[in-house]
Amino acid sequence: MGFFEPWWIMRVFIVLLMAPRIHGWGKEGHYVVCKIAENYLTEDALAAVKALLPDRAEGDLAAVCSWPDEIRFHYRWSSPLHYIDTPDFRCNYQYCRDCHDSVGRKDRCVTGAIYNYTMQLMQEHDDTDLSAVKYNLTEALMFLSHFVGDVHQPLHVGFTGDEGGNTIIIRWYRRKTNLHHVWDTMIIESALKTFYNSDLTTMIKSIQNNITDAFADECSSENCKGTVCPDPYATESINLACKFAYRNATPGSTLGDDYFLSRLPVVERRLAQSGVRLAALLNRIFSKHKSIASE
Ligand SMILES: *[C@@H]1O[C@H](CO)[C@@H](O)[C@H](O)[C@H]1NC(C)=O
Ligand SMILES: *[C@@H]1O[C@H](CO)[C@@H](O)[C@H](O)[C@H]1NC(C)=O
Ligand SMILES: *[C@@H]1O[C@H](CO)[C@@H](O)[C@H](O)[C@H]1NC(C)=O
Ligand SMILES: [Zn+2]
Repeated sequence: MGFFEPWWIMRVFIVLLMAPRIHGWGKEGHYVVCKIAENYLTEDALAAVKALLPDRAEGDLAAVCSWPDEIRFHYRWSSPLHYIDTPDFRCNYQYCRDCHDSVGRKDRCVTGAIYNYTMQLMQEHDDTDLSAVKYNLTEALMFLSHFVGDVHQPLHVGFTGDEGGNTIIIRWYRRKTNLHHVWDTMIIESALKTFYNSDLTTMIKSIQNNITDAFADECSSENCKGTVCPDPYATESINLACKFAYRNATPGSTLGDDYFLSRLPVVERRLAQSGVRLAALLNRIFSKHKSIASE
């Protein structure tokens, strides 16, 4: 197909339109996270998830894990919930300091959203009080599953000044794009083409084969007492952003094999971690035998 074919121009146009702050992990990334999570759900959690999924998901959580990106224009209020901006070059994250939107409204960031939607699902699950606020739990589940993925994408916890790499224009091999998009999408797409014969299922299998106990959720440890602990995930992300994503990716640079091959293991590990942790979280939320006494 020619470079100037209308469909190609349309694509460029759409990509340009959508470029600023639109994506989480791309569609593939979120699909991978939720597919992995499905394999670690308990029977109780799987049943609860299936009951909440919209019909079009046909019982598959992964089918709707990109939904929050699709409705971002429609639900404008949800846009800041996909990321966190941290102070430039500090390479750290603090909930109180950083979790707000661009006009300073507190809790409006990805970790705030994870707390929010966990709380909604927990309340409904626990409460028999009919006067309690009713949330749309189908949306809560889709938001939560998506945001647990997003908080693991290193550049979703990036610097304020470059909007998490969105304003860092670089080349990915020969293609002009921005650094944020490389981490959402391009590394995964290049890996699919280079190593997995463009087959997402094969890629998911390889990532899964690598999963070990080391991926287990720190929520069980003493650094987190509640049902959900997104803050350590955000801290890991900004650390990885500084160590891997921003490094050697200055504006105008061309990223190729060196960058791709050294960063791909980081991406694969983050996808695996999000999947395992999402499952652990949903298992806690939908556990039929919750007991505070056992903590
Ligand atoms: C919490 O969820 C509700 C319902 O979707 C939404 O209106 C609100 O903006 C959310 N707040 C945060 C911080 O996620
Ligand atoms: C809950 O949200 C889903 C997805 O946006 C929507 O299709 C459904 O109609 C909503 N349910 C209610 C009761 O509003
Ligand atoms: C599996 O783990 C090894 C060692 O950490 C890493 O180099 C490789 O990229 C991983 N592969 C996948 C598919 O995650
Ligand atoms: Zn997102």
